[in-house]
Amino acid sequence: MVARTPRAHHRGVLRALLLENLHPFATSILASEGIEVITRTGALDESELIEALDGVHLLGIRSKTNVTEEVLANAPDLIAVGAYCIGTNQINLAAAARNGVPAFNAPFSNTRSVVEIALADIIALTRRLTVLDRAMHQGVWNKASEGSHEVRGRTLGIIGYGNIGTQLSVLAENLGMSVVFYDIAEKLALGNARRMETIDELLDAADVVTLHVDGRDGNAGLFGGKQFARMRPGAVFLNLSRGFVVDYTALAEAIESEHLAGAAIDVFPVEPKRRGDAFVSELRNLPNVILTPHTGGSTEEAQEAIGRFVSNKLRDYLTTGSTTLSVNVPNLALEQTAGSHRLAHLHRNTPGVLAAVNAVLANHGVNIEGQMLATRGELGYVVTDVGSDIAPDAVDALARMSQTVRLRLLS
Ligand SMILES: NC(=O)c1ccc[n+]([C@@H]2O[C@H](COP(=O)([O-])OP(=O)(O)OC[C@H]3O[C@@H](n4cnc5c(N)ncnc54)[C@H](O)[C@@H]3O)[C@@H](O)[C@H]2O)c1
Repeated sequence: MVARTPRAHHRGVLRALLLENLHPFATSILASEGIEVITRTGALDESELIEALDGVHLLGIRSKTNVTEEVLANAPDLIAVGAYCIGTNQINLAAAARNGVPAFNAPFSNTRSVVEIALADIIALTRRLTVLDRAMHQGVWNKASEGSHEVRGRTLGIIGYGNIGTQLSVLAENLGMSVVFYDIAEKLALGNARRMETIDELLDAADVVTLHVDGRDGNAGLFGGKQFARMRPGAVFLNLSRGFVVDYTALAEAIESEHLAGAAIDVFPVEPKRRGDAFVSELRNLPNVILTPHTGGSTEEAQEAIGRFVSNKLRDYLTTGSTTLSVNVPNLALEQTAGSHRLAHLHRNTPGVLAAVNAVLANHGVNIEGQMLATRGELGYVVTDVGSDIAPDAVDALARMSQTVRLRLLS
């Protein structure tokens, strides 16, 4: 049963709508749970989406479908949204939370793909592969060793030691590189990697500097002329994190002056919207500069991992109430006591809600066998396992509580 104040829904067939051509695993994982899955290849605009969500409990999208406040207000059947990608800007997360709709994404399903392209870029830049390749295609045989290096023994400086930075650290050491890193948060140094106290200290040490910071506002313009000037002469630079973090005009100058020996860039402050659109940048046609169209994480393996990851999250939320890694509601996962029945209650986070829920259960003679509460901002979430069947009037009493956003009876 799914109850969402003020009205209650009775559980029949559960339906998922998957848009934007998701990996087949996205469908098969949900279908194996008995969910009826409708797939569409394209995105939908607001009014089309509202119409399509009638009778739909789970929505799966990528980056091109906007789940607006209006959509959420007009989709009373919707239980959860899956963003089958990394970013969640296309979903109004606050409105989704207010409507009791958890959103899930795939924050690290493409981490390995980014790490591999970073390694490819590092070796290609250090050996000037694209310069040799371009000359060969122009019919020029330029056999020389000047400016080409092994990566073994060189120092890699990683700025942002998160999911991607740490995995790159491990693989780069396996190639024989020395690794130094800088992160604003306290991080465990893996292998022989050494933490630097400042970005400048890292720039003084590194032959290769690579950015893997997150997209927080404060990182705008993090790297510019001052940092490029501080880099070692002949060093190379990579940015596969966010475009707005780097001043690319300053990078172009550092390449043209030959202070830096090359760069690999995958992300740009303004990126073309569609495949085939023109790409404008001061970095075009510079020697030993590798440009890729934000494809750091774009592999078939990553798409498969994303399909699997997000559908598993939606399935788990549906069947167990687990909100682990949801980006907008309190996160919790409660192991279920055998033979118990489960109530999942999303509510407005005001003092005394837990006591009120338990009082309703006690008044109806229901014994609690397991319970977990988590809060996040204005929202609270309590999952309760009870030993006996819950009488419909107890469920109604919980659904009618003024703080209730959504109540689900899971088993
Ligand atoms: N090119 C692509 O296709 C692609 C694919 C996936 C991720 N990304 C981007 O890569 C970046 C890293 O992803 P992740 O999964 O490793 O993220 P993450 O959140 O795991 O790690 C980011 C790290 O950067 C640190 N950090 C933030 N600001 C910093 C600063 N100013 N100086 C030093 N450290 C700072 C954080 O403390 C954190 O440890 C993100 O910006 C993400 O959007 C790009």
